[in-house]
Amino acid sequence: MTTIVVSGKGGTGKTNVAALIVRIISERKVTLAIDADPDTNLAGALGASIRKTVGDIREGFLDEKDKLPPETDKQAHFEYRLMGIIEEGDRFDILAMGRPEGPGCYCYVNNVLRAIIERLEGNYEVVVIDTEAGLEHLSRRTVRDIDILLVVTDTSRRGLETADRIRKLANELNIRVKQIYVVANKVRDEKDREKLKNMAEEMDLELIGFIPFDEELAELDLDGKPLTQLKDSSPAFKAVKEIVERLNIM
Ligand SMILES: Nc1ncnc2c1ncn2[C@@H]1O[C@H](COP(=O)(O)OP(=O)(O)OP(=O)(O)O)[C@@H](O)[C@H]1O
Ligand SMILES: [Mg+2]
Repeated sequence: MTTIVVSGKGGTGKTNVAALIVRIISERKVTLAIDADPDTNLAGALGASIRKTVGDIREGFLDEKDKLPPETDKQAHFEYRLMGIIEEGDRFDILAMGRPEGPGCYCYVNNVLRAIIERLEGNYEVVVIDTEAGLEHLSRRTVRDIDILLVVTDTSRRGLETADRIRKLANELNIRVKQIYVVANKVRDEKDREKLKNMAEEMDLELIGFIPFDEELAELDLDGKPLTQLKDSSPAFKAVKEIVERLNIM
């Protein structure tokens, strides 16, 4: 199973990029989309709906865990509940994490969650995880190994600086990241491309592709329509398709 994590600074286009990646990869591979942003936007972008999140299950589980009969296998009980909230679509399945930890220690449940992601390995060929902005999601360590970490940036220097921080944090936390690439999104012209290329080189970051600013995509998003309606001929779709091809997992 190949794990692809999409991260980056706020508002750079993570969710849209993740949704397009899921759309493209799921044409050929058995794919699980995980929405790890508490704001849960990925399902909407993919035209799917979420009934319950891991957060919902987790809350209930923490409340009742001590009330279960002592002989109950609590981990199995939680796993069973979690499996039940994976939404199954024709093309891909989707799981939403929901709220991150509240007060109290959720380490136990996070560990179970990580175990489950690992257990799902046999069921899917590719897992695509959309994350919230910033670095929080890495420190929660719900994924131990990342095959491909894509850091989406807009045309700002800060976007690339976030990429640099994400790379350092992954190292510090001992999260194994096999490949890390920057995806430049909302690119308007050649001047943008040149600048981004130079900045990435300067920071020793590998830029895997440019996604142009796409009016059609922006309009769909504005109207709250899923990206499944984005034409294959649209500039953003074509650019993401090229990026997926470069990842060499199809
Ligand atoms: N290639 C693009 N062309 C035009 N608009 C884009 C493009 N990519 C993203 N956008 C727009 O940028 C905004 C942010 O996109 P998106 O929600 O995917 O970002 P995000 O990084 O997931 O944000 P957040 O940090 O809030 O999760 C949206 O309004 C979206 O329509
Ligand atoms: Mg998002």
